[in-house]
Amino acid sequence: MDAPAPSEGVCFHEAAVVVPPDPGAVPGSAEARERTILHPCTLTLRERRVAVIGANGSGKSTLLRLINGLSRPSAGAVTVHGLDTVRDVHAVRRRVGFLFTDPLAQLIMPIVVEDVELSLKATHRERAARRQAALEALARFGLEHLAARSVYDLSGGERQLVALVSVLAAGQQVLVADEPTTLLDLRNTAKLRRVFEGLPQQVIYATHDLDFAAEADRVLVVDEGRIVFDGEARAAIDAYRRLALGGGT
Ligand SMILES: Nc1ncnc2c1ncn2[C@@H]1O[C@H](COP(=O)(O)OP(=O)(O)OP(=O)(O)O)[C@@H](O)[C@H]1O
Ligand SMILES: [Mg+2]
Repeated sequence: MDAPAPSEGVCFHEAAVVVPPDPGAVPGSAEARERTILHPCTLTLRERRVAVIGANGSGKSTLLRLINGLSRPSAGAVTVHGLDTVRDVHAVRRRVGFLFTDPLAQLIMPIVVEDVELSLKATHRERAARRQAALEALARFGLEHLAARSVYDLSGGERQLVALVSVLAAGQQVLVADEPTTLLDLRNTAKLRRVFEGLPQQVIYATHDLDFAAEADRVLVVDEGRIVFDGEARAAIDAYRRLALGGGT
């Protein structure tokens, strides 16, 4: 295999996702049949900031989950820096960090600082240095006061920020974030947006916050499992508004 090349970006090669019939579905309903939740899609994402927008259930999370191998394409392939997300899933995950909408889906350790430490395991072998680095990572977000708290006792927004610190501590080259501001108040949303702006890595994020989407270099509009618009932020947001509020694309 050739050495992975970040310049190759994140590529979808006719990637599609088909889900089997739901055995509990009402006979005759859409769920009782095999359903294509992402139609074959070919894309090369190299821009620093890529936003994905679209209605609930349109396929945004499905698209994002393909990037770090959380979902497998039913047809076609997805590659990150030339690495296949199925065949080379471990190498892909060393390159792609994933921030879930629900932070409890990714916080593994019960105590905040321990969760951040877990992300630093590969880079900080020595325990005391790892603890120090984890505390510093929390402090960069003004979250040092949460270090000793149980992740279960945090508010949703606090948890979301801790999950972000943990993901960033792992230092992957690509960050995929699924609605990272959903649980955040106005101030923390602004903080997260500033953090995203300053990150050196490529960030691919789904959001319902159109102001946040407007900051992206490229925006994909997803509708019923298809990318119906791909381009500059303002034009993409206009296309989505027309689609959602009437008037067609
Ligand atoms: N594993 C699965 N099995 C069956 N259906 C699924 C599966 N994953 C997703 N779906 C369906 O695929 C469609 C797209 O889901 P997806 O989560 O990608 O939407 P979304 O655009 O992220 O929506 P939201 O804005 O609500 O987060 C939905 O109808 C969802 O119910
Ligand atoms: Mg989603």
